[in-house]
Amino acid sequence: MSQVFVLNHPMIQHKLTYIRSEETGSKEFRELVEEVAMLMTYEVTRDLPLEEVTVQTPVAEAKCNVIAGRKVAFVPILRAGLGMVGGMLRLIPAAKVGHIGLYRDPDTLEPVEYYCKLPPDLTERDLIVIDPMLATGGSAAAGIKFLKDRGVKNIKLMCLIAAPEGIERVQDEHPDVDIYVAGVDEKLNDHGYIVPGLGDAGDRLYGTK
Ligand code: PRP
Ligand code: URA
Repeated sequence: MSQVFVLNHPMIQHKLTYIRSEETGSKEFRELVEEVAMLMTYEVTRDLPLEEVTVQTPVAEAKCNVIAGRKVAFVPILRAGLGMVGGMLRLIPAAKVGHIGLYRDPDTLEPVEYYCKLPPDLTERDLIVIDPMLATGGSAAAGIKFLKDRGVKNIKLMCLIAAPEGIERVQDEHPDVDIYVAGVDEKLNDHGYIVPGLGDAGDRLYGTK
């Protein structure tokens, strides 16, 4: 069974509070989502392997560590996942980015695919699938399956807020995928929205409604 990591660093929790607040407008919302995504990436990449190198400091030779050439790719689920990419690229500028377009059918709540563009060397990379909201888990589970069908093995899922239902579905369908979240909320409402959540992540990022 996969693990669920709740990233309760005070900086992440502080910023998440303002992301949730309905008083936070689109500009600030976008900035905060990027910042939290960057901070979360720091935790999600904690297990990247290191290799030793030697550098000359102004004083002496020093044996130090660098990340051992492991390739990483981010796969945001459009459209709300896009809001997290900028912050993550600030931390790992060399990461490649693939895009999967899914929207949730408002009646069935099941994901509908409409776009896909992935880096060619995907199977050689560690993938972090990103989506701010893990509600029923349908979108994340479909995005992960899509990648596995193309041969990808190392996948992590990173979300801002998850409902217990979404965690359960991803763990059921993808027991090998660890989940990183900033908050686990109480439940879903009748429209499949996370309670208390933050509302519609895509609409709040891009000012649509
Ligand atoms: C939202 C969110 C997730 C999905 C989560 O996307 O960004 O992708 O819902 O719900 P689920 O876990 O029940 O699948 P939405 O369908 O609203 O599309 P958008 O990102 O384009 O706004
Ligand atoms: N998608 C969102 O944007 N918010 C939710 O609470 C659930 C799905």
